[in-house]
Amino acid sequence: MKLFRQLAVNVEQLYVKKEGKTILEDINLKVYEGEIVAVVGPNGGGKTTFLKTLLGLVKPTAGRIEIFNFPPREAVKRHLIGYIPQRVNFKRDSCLSALDVVLLGMYHLKLPKEEKVKRALESLKLFGVDHLKDRRFSDLSGGQQQRVNLARVVAAEPKLLLLDEPTTGIDFSGQQTFYEQIKKLRDKKGFTVIMVTHDVGVVWRYVDKAVCINRKLHYHGEPQAILRPEILKLVYGTEMVPLYHKH
Ligand SMILES: Nc1ncnc2c1ncn2[C@@H]1O[C@H](COP(=O)(O)OP(=O)(O)OP(=O)(O)O)[C@@H](O)[C@H]1O
Ligand SMILES: [Mg+2]
Repeated sequence: MKLFRQLAVNVEQLYVKKEGKTILEDINLKVYEGEIVAVVGPNGGGKTTFLKTLLGLVKPTAGRIEIFNFPPREAVKRHLIGYIPQRVNFKRDSCLSALDVVLLGMYHLKLPKEEKVKRALESLKLFGVDHLKDRRFSDLSGGQQQRVNLARVVAAEPKLLLLDEPTTGIDFSGQQTFYEQIKKLRDKKGFTVIMVTHDVGVVWRYVDKAVCINRKLHYHGEPQAILRPEILKLVYGTEMVPLYHKH
């Protein structure tokens, strides 16, 4: 067992304002290497903005962010971060195959072509879409494209995965397999994962921590707590009864 865990993400007193509106307010968060963190919260709560500040795509109004001790842009330059945005715009007429898309994610790696292809196929298999390798990416269904995108970021083996609603469009059984897969990968490769999700009733089983963001960071801790009505009310602002399956 490692006695010392490296800080993967360190966020201190982060503020983001856009057009005079405060989107994120005084966010403080530490994520350690190898942790899987779920970010939940209502629509418009600032979750995507938060991931974008970790990537250096959105500039904080105030505060400090370090990714493995680097400022966000430097971490991106060093290929430490793999990111799947909430919406991916892909040119419909592109003739790239699913395999090409995964290979594109590894363009910066100095590996022989055969090694890259081998890794890409393994990664497609992991997300159950290896049989689609030669199909045009743009012809695939939304859920299939999402799986290929996951294969793309995972094949590149970054240290930190930032996933914005990665299971959108993936069917229920696929969602569970996805979370299991992410956990297995973490165990094997030691990835740190921060993922935004609305699967409140499912995700808590698979993550180490949950973070609830609605402008402010309302909760940070044990994932089971996101099922507690008082936490849901605090974050979502309405009375909610979580739906989940007991096994
Ligand atoms: N570039 C921008 N300029 C102005 N306002 C913005 C900008 N980007 C985001 N916002 C606003 O910031 C708030 C947070 O948006 P964000 O996309 O981060 O929310 P979210 O939590 O990811 O929501 P969802 O669950 O719907 O994806 C929203 O009110 C949005 O309109
Ligand atoms: Mg979002």
